[in-house]
Amino acid sequence: MEVSKILQEHEPVLLKDFISLSAPIKGCWIDGTFGAGGYSRALLQNGACQVLAIDKDSTTKTFFKILQNEYGDKVKFYNQSFADMGKNNEINSRNDICGVVLDLGVSSMHLDNPHRGFSFKKSGPLDMRMGNQPGPTASEIINLCSEATLADLIFFYGQERKAKKIANRIVTERKKRKISTTMELAQIIRAIVPKNFNKDPATRTFQAIRIAVNNELKDLSRALTCAEKIIIKGGIIAVVTFHSIEDKIVKDFGKIMSGNTSSNNRYSPPTSKTCASLIPLNKRPIVATANEIERNKRARSAKLRVYKKVSDCPSGLLTSMQFPEVELGI
Ligand SMILES: C[S@@+](CC[C@H](N)C(=O)[O-])C[C@H]1O[C@@H](n2cnc3c(N)ncnc32)[C@H](O)[C@@H]1O
Repeated sequence: MEVSKILQEHEPVLLKDFISLSAPIKGCWIDGTFGAGGYSRALLQNGACQVLAIDKDSTTKTFFKILQNEYGDKVKFYNQSFADMGKNNEINSRNDICGVVLDLGVSSMHLDNPHRGFSFKKSGPLDMRMGNQPGPTASEIINLCSEATLADLIFFYGQERKAKKIANRIVTERKKRKISTTMELAQIIRAIVPKNFNKDPATRTFQAIRIAVNNELKDLSRALTCAEKIIIKGGIIAVVTFHSIEDKIVKDFGKIMSGNTSSNNRYSPPTSKTCASLIPLNKRPIVATANEIERNKRARSAKLRVYKKVSDCPSGLLTSMQFPEVELGI
């Protein structure tokens, strides 16, 4: 699809809610998930002086150039993972970052391009890498991981109850021939998971493989910890998540940083800050209205959480930010 058409049709999820909860928007912001630039553009239109845009997918540079033509030096682009924003010298040397926003997951550009291997609706190579990382690809995971690893991965990252059966069928099928395309994988899953009106049976397994390929959970936890250090007092961290594992990481992070976790065991080390460094600006996560979901199906699972930094209180031990981690062993 043409770039101008993508931009015309692109509706960033929960954008208005993000802007109104984060108001007044000012100073320099980091948009850690630039995509087609919808959030960056809205930040600039609503008071940000500068946006440092990050995306691990280098193809998003095309959209960045359009924004740069309009805003010049007010926008900068870094092709890297948001997990490494603290390692970026230009970003790290700044002491005026007023906000960090992450609108997680894949973009519609990823899903619409079958060659990227994210879609179970169109056939393409089993790839699923968002960035330029060497590997592993989805194909390597599907064809090389042990049956037990596949089952764990599909269960923990996809929350798929039929994980063991799917893993077993994948291993049986790959003995006959290499599983090479998204369609082949989707058919294997569809033969096991019953049909559901709302969701393709392959959704959860595809989510699981994508999370593993892109190291999504660890990257999110690293980015949140770094964002809290990077922003000034009064600054904002806003995150849009698309599934419950991501949302739990953000929620736990918010609890820890607001000194809101209690240890069950008085002998265990402290797991939260001794004083709050962040406060949540919304008690419950913001979800999309029925109207937004009707216009944009992707919005149906989106949740927005926004936090404000209230002090520079030193970090406690962040042991409660727990999430499932599956060793790939390949
Ligand atoms: C849902 S899209 C963002 C859409 C964007 N907010 C907009 O308005 O166009 C998510 C983007 O984040 C990028 N992304 C995902 N994980 C990332 C990571 N760890 N580091 C940097 N970019 C990441 C993806 O490549 C994708 O372009």
